[in-house]
Amino acid sequence: MPVYKAVILIAGPQKGTRFRPLSLDVPKPLFPVAGIPILQHHVEACASVPDIVEILVLGFYPAHEMAAFIQEMASQHSSVSIRYLQEYAPLGTAGGIYHFRDQIRVGNPDAFFVLNGDVCADFPLKDMLEFHRSKAEAVSTLMATEATHQQSVNFGCIVEDKTSHSILHYVEKPETYVSTLINCGVYIFSLQIFTMLQTVFTRKQTEYYNSVTGMDADTSKRDAIWLEKDVMVPLAGTNSAFVYQTSNWWSQIKSAGSAIYANRHYLNLYTRDVSNSRLVSNKEGGPKIIGDVTIHPSASVHPSATLGPNVSIGKNVRVGAGTRIRESIVLGNSVIGDHSLIIYSVIGWSSKVGDWSRVEGTPEDPNPNKPFAKMENGPLFNSSGQLNPSITILGGHVVVPSEVIILNSIVLPHKELGGSYKNQIIL
Ligand code: GTP
Repeated sequence: MPVYKAVILIAGPQKGTRFRPLSLDVPKPLFPVAGIPILQHHVEACASVPDIVEILVLGFYPAHEMAAFIQEMASQHSSVSIRYLQEYAPLGTAGGIYHFRDQIRVGNPDAFFVLNGDVCADFPLKDMLEFHRSKAEAVSTLMATEATHQQSVNFGCIVEDKTSHSILHYVEKPETYVSTLINCGVYIFSLQIFTMLQTVFTRKQTEYYNSVTGMDADTSKRDAIWLEKDVMVPLAGTNSAFVYQTSNWWSQIKSAGSAIYANRHYLNLYTRDVSNSRLVSNKEGGPKIIGDVTIHPSASVHPSATLGPNVSIGKNVRVGAGTRIRESIVLGNSVIGDHSLIIYSVIGWSSKVGDWSRVEGTPEDPNPNKPFAKMENGPLFNSSGQLNPSITILGGHVVVPSEVIILNSIVLPHKELGGSYKNQIIL
């Protein structure tokens, strides 16, 4: 029987800055979307592939920050070994794979998946694996999707042979248009890839020792290896790297706005499995539920409140009478008062919204009129220095008083607001 492994890349504390202020309280991969940490969606996708025996999470977060999550995942998926391996420095997307090569190779897997931890998707891993297995000469298979002409340059762009699907050309974030076929950040590699990584590693070390600045240079840069530039670019044109194209939902999760978008799609994926207990339905004596909604069992929602569509309510949250919540994530221990409205917003941990208040943001969804459009992870400010309309984010422990409106604003943690705000970052 073939054996496979999976590696999930989660980077570390200095990364994910566009996710602030939400990543100030919790590592970005552990931020809950559709009721569970972003990373749990990856773990569940990998664990559902029958022949995957081990999932290795690679990053440079301190191990203690990941320990509880990893333990929880290990207990939920007892037939798969799940471990966190901490890089001693940011090693790039392939440096950790090279550094922990013995851990990946042990047990002699036939191949291993690599998933970027900051993508969210309806991962078609089984079909991708089948595709990879059908290509005897494949050292790598890369998942790709169609993007718009204009947005494609923000991603890794691929030119393929339309018949064999082998990768002819790969350019990471090209300066000018190359192709609308983009890298989804999901790969399968055979163990032959380690020979290539060894060569790249040796070359970089040699360059470092021969450089003018020599040993004064940043050593983590010396050890960093990138899958995109150091692996996919040279593999292109060798007839050993292939493209598996998907039209399933796929998005990156860079900004807090993309979390609302991902929340909606992950909630929708739960509807596929009728036995999925994460979605709630209308019940006698319960709140009114519209569309896809998840509520942590410890939360209490007043029966006269209305939730949905696309709402996630966290642990120990309290929602008051007559309150309306749509397209939002309410994080653990928050309290939403009576008759308030929350729409296109993330309410941070242990925050409090008073009565008759309105917290509202603007959706940042991909342009619905453009086929294949992806989320824009644009700048926070426009050219005249004003905050671009975005979802509203309340950092942790924020207090919003009663009878105010907070519109398109970002509120940093521990802030007690005195009134209404519009299009502002409140420090
Ligand atoms: P940006 O648009 O600049 O964010 O680039 P990108 O989308 O190509 O992302 P990037 O290459 O920074 O990261 C791709 C994936 O690799 C993400 O899931 C990161 O969490 C992960 N990653 C990035 N750097 C490292 C690293 O040093 N170590 C590990 N383990 N993962 C990393």
